[in-house]
Amino acid sequence: MDQPTWAEGVDLSRPSPARVYDYLLGGRHNFASDRALAEQMLAVEPDARRWAAANRSFLGRAVEHLLDAGVRQFIDLGAGIPTVGNVHDIALGATSDARVVYVDVDKVAVTHSRHLVSDVSDRVGVVQADLRRPEAVLGDPVTQRLIDFRRPVGILMVAVLHFVPDSDDPRGVLAVYRDAVPPGSGLVISHMTHPAEMTEDVERTVKTYSSSAAPLTFRSKSEIEELFTGWWLTDPGVVGVLQWHPSSPGSVGPDIPGLVGVATKL
Ligand SMILES: C[S@@+](CC[C@H](N)C(=O)[O-])C[C@H]1O[C@@H](n2cnc3c(N)ncnc32)[C@H](O)[C@@H]1O
Repeated sequence: MDQPTWAEGVDLSRPSPARVYDYLLGGRHNFASDRALAEQMLAVEPDARRWAAANRSFLGRAVEHLLDAGVRQFIDLGAGIPTVGNVHDIALGATSDARVVYVDVDKVAVTHSRHLVSDVSDRVGVVQADLRRPEAVLGDPVTQRLIDFRRPVGILMVAVLHFVPDSDDPRGVLAVYRDAVPPGSGLVISHMTHPAEMTEDVERTVKTYSSSAAPLTFRSKSEIEELFTGWWLTDPGVVGVLQWHPSSPGSVGPDIPGLVGVATKL
């Protein structure tokens, strides 16, 4: 495909996590390099589509949980391309006064997102920023226009913190977001853990992904629990993606290498 004008300056020969994930979810916002890497992953792990879908489904359940707890505003960090089951549809479906700010570092994801939310731009905004620079995210005019920091805010970090290595101080970054929001706010994290079996094939795929798209940092359960420092983890704590408030008991299938949790600021 020719380089679209809106993707000027983007190296489309290099896969991006946002678009690889979009492809795994069955979306159409991806390019040949993204599909090639996704297919390479699927050849090694045919279950990768189910992993992506399960993560996306958790995001929806977590947002509904926060809505039930009275949270009306959301900052979705590393939002990707808000297609299937996106945060603003769930939130605005529950209450017309909801506010959502999508944040992503990927220019293509941000461009698609702006297009997708253009009809609700009075309540939903998109910021192109690196979540590791919380002051830039929180101080962005779009965030400032939409989010009232005197009222509870849902901070969503779903399938994104494994792109932040320890050397970038994820706990320090999280502390800035925590300190910016009032009690009653929520933190949602979904994070990759080591696959149960790191076969040579899986290891090779992880290495390919890391070198061509983005480096991955797997964290253990206790390391993920530590990311919630200063928050009160709600039941059932940090658990497998499928175990967190399953929509129906039958929906729990074989586990996937991801852990999730939702917490409240007291
Ligand atoms: C696997 S996707 C997850 C999308 C969405 N959160 C979900 O779970 O459905 C990860 C997203 O995080 C974004 N991302 C990675 N590192 C980031 C950073 N430092 N700041 C902002 N976004 C980042 C990627 O561009 C990608 O869109």
